[in-house]
Amino acid sequence: MYLLYTIISALVCFLTLKWMKRRRYYMGVKRLDGKTVLITGGNSGIGKETAVALAQRGARVIIACRDEEKARKALREIKTRSHSMNVLQMDLDLANMRSIREFCKAFLQQEKRLDVLINNAGMPGVLDWTDDNFSMCFGVNHLGHFLLTNLLLPRLKESAPSRVINLTCSSYKYQKLNFQDLNYNLFPFFTYCRSKLANIYFTQELARMTEGRGVTAYAVHPGFVQSSWTGHFSVLYRILAQLVMWMFFVSCEAGAQTVVYCAISDEVIPLSGGYFTDCRPAPLRAFARDSGVARKLWEASERLVHLA
Ligand SMILES: NC(=O)c1ccc[n+]([C@@H]2O[C@H](COP(=O)([O-])OP(=O)(O)OC[C@H]3O[C@@H](n4cnc5c(N)ncnc54)[C@H](OP(=O)(O)O)[C@@H]3O)[C@@H](O)[C@H]2O)c1
Repeated sequence: MYLLYTIISALVCFLTLKWMKRRRYYMGVKRLDGKTVLITGGNSGIGKETAVALAQRGARVIIACRDEEKARKALREIKTRSHSMNVLQMDLDLANMRSIREFCKAFLQQEKRLDVLINNAGMPGVLDWTDDNFSMCFGVNHLGHFLLTNLLLPRLKESAPSRVINLTCSSYKYQKLNFQDLNYNLFPFFTYCRSKLANIYFTQELARMTEGRGVTAYAVHPGFVQSSWTGHFSVLYRILAQLVMWMFFVSCEAGAQTVVYCAISDEVIPLSGGYFTDCRPAPLRAFARDSGVARKLWEASERLVHLA
């Protein structure tokens, strides 16, 4: 009897974990020959899997990374797995506004097209500061991508129809923005949630501003993904986090599916500004749909990154 209970319990646990880890895969066969895709932080995790998937479909893929050595290693892997030589790396540190401006200058000189911009790079909640004295999460996850996208917007418009995809997280719902303290840097998880909420407002305002100009924007929650996040944590926390990830989180390949879907599928074209997960649109909490807050964040971000 005891053995039977043990077997049933193990089976229930196994099926529950499998159910929790279920993800839809994007099965579209559309090719991207002649298109250029830029992926920030494409050297690991979801970004790297996205790069493989899009290079396999014929796109010219550029991964923009802060660590040259890691980028070179990832580049070799992406080329091998995608059987494409049309993949390259460029240097970009989103924690440094000067690096972003230099990157954009080089990109605009070198690349004649930008069909899909994937703002993927991200920091988990770490209490640190960027080179420009912004809290690390807000600075990298939101402000860095905000500046990057704005500087590349002319090329996106010239390449229309084009798309911008911002990686956000369903944890956006646990915090609200405080405009008196956008650089909030107190509880690591909350700094992360706020930056991911900012990604959602940014997507909505970008969609509104580019409406009718052939540029569309999407916010994607990739699911909970077994990526390289834990590298930022202390040893004990890392071991715990890796155990939880192994049990409950999906693979990076599965995590990349909604990004690939938003980059390719025609179904999303009329849904610019939307929030997607598991290869379909998903509802947002009412406060995250407030266009007044989205506008206010855009204006505050413009001031912070000195965009005239
Ligand atoms: N994993 C999840 O469960 C999950 C859930 C929801 C949303 N997301 C979002 O998905 C995105 C990708 O995360 P991931 O899970 O794939 O994590 P990851 O494997 O840690 O990848 C993050 C990438 O961002 C890069 N990056 C960090 N700071 C940077 C900077 N200052 N400049 C340029 N690149 C920088 C990292 O480069 P280095 O290798 O040099 O550090 C790395 O390539 C993030 O935006 C994250 O918020 C992830």
